[in-house]
Amino acid sequence: MRILAIETTCDETSAAVLDGNKLLSDCVYTQIPLHSSYNGVVPELASRAHLEKMPSVLKAALKDAGIEKFEKGCVDAVAFSRGPGLPGSLMVGRVAAETAARLCGVPLIGVNHLEGHLLACELENGRIAKPLQFPLIGLLASGGHTEMWLVRSYGDYKILGRTRDDAAGEAFDKVAKLLKLPYPGGPEVEKLASEAPGPGPAFPRPYMKGTLEFSFSGLKTAVSYFLQKHPSPSLDEKRLICRAFQDAVIDTLAHKVKEAAYKFGISRIAIGGGVSANSALRKAFSSFKNLETRFSERKYCSDNAAMITLCALRRIQAGKWKNSIKADPVLEQASWRIA
Ligand code: KG4
Ligand code: ZN
Repeated sequence: MRILAIETTCDETSAAVLDGNKLLSDCVYTQIPLHSSYNGVVPELASRAHLEKMPSVLKAALKDAGIEKFEKGCVDAVAFSRGPGLPGSLMVGRVAAETAARLCGVPLIGVNHLEGHLLACELENGRIAKPLQFPLIGLLASGGHTEMWLVRSYGDYKILGRTRDDAAGEAFDKVAKLLKLPYPGGPEVEKLASEAPGPGPAFPRPYMKGTLEFSFSGLKTAVSYFLQKHPSPSLDEKRLICRAFQDAVIDTLAHKVKEAAYKFGISRIAIGGGVSANSALRKAFSSFKNLETRFSERKYCSDNAAMITLCALRRIQAGKWKNSIKADPVLEQASWRIA
């Protein structure tokens, strides 16, 4: 079974080919340099860049997979991220995927981008190494989303809670902006936090008692108020602020995941999305007692088409897929469910 997948939900143009358990190619073009001066992704620039880069990314993915050109039988299915994501960017991916599927005469499978972040935990060294075991609590923490799922099997996802305002990654990016650090903020905040001479100021933990939801905008505002009282922080002060902010985010994510695990009597956790690349977070989640946490390999934490090939594979294996599915910018949840 050979699957070509295309990913264009936000600011990465990516194409990958999976053959059986092995990734034959995994090409990612990141638009970060294009957006960094704006401190965030500019949707119109993103869709134009996807359009511009798609041919070369597809060409590279085919070449690495040893496929000469799109023709009948060169792959068995074409998949694409149908949402959630930026509308213009999604359309570029959908049109490219539909064109490829028609040229190859194979089904077109639209999948949920967030499901991809979860299933990315199965990838290791360019292959599907260890299938996930169920049930598990899935945590997706990226720049655009923060949500927690009860996962009973592939495709059986129940959303337990999501952020009411900012996503965790968005909070990292906004705090980085307040501290005049480059975009994207997550890796920058992590670096300064790791150099902090101490734990830093006390910031609140938005635990959202009585719910399994998240809220990170208040934490960002707490950093902003702190900076109003302490303008022009020195490098060491910035390190302390980063450490304190990062600790607050990690404590909050950890608290909510543990709460969900205990509530549903589940001992497995899987975490995906850009924020899950954070070393301090990985350390904290690895130290949970009686809970086993799976992470994506770091290169698969951010957006990539490799994880999309996996979503399509699991659907095909379960016999649950629909041909020709529309892009949907506000796709709520995985659009399939196995009873
Ligand atoms: O999953 P992703 O690549 O794209 C989305 O689907 O949104 O996530 C990007 C987000 C950005 O907000 C970025 O700042 C954050 O993930 N991020 C991190 C780290 N690396 C990336 N946040 C915290 N620590 C990191 N090391
Ligand atoms: Zn993503």
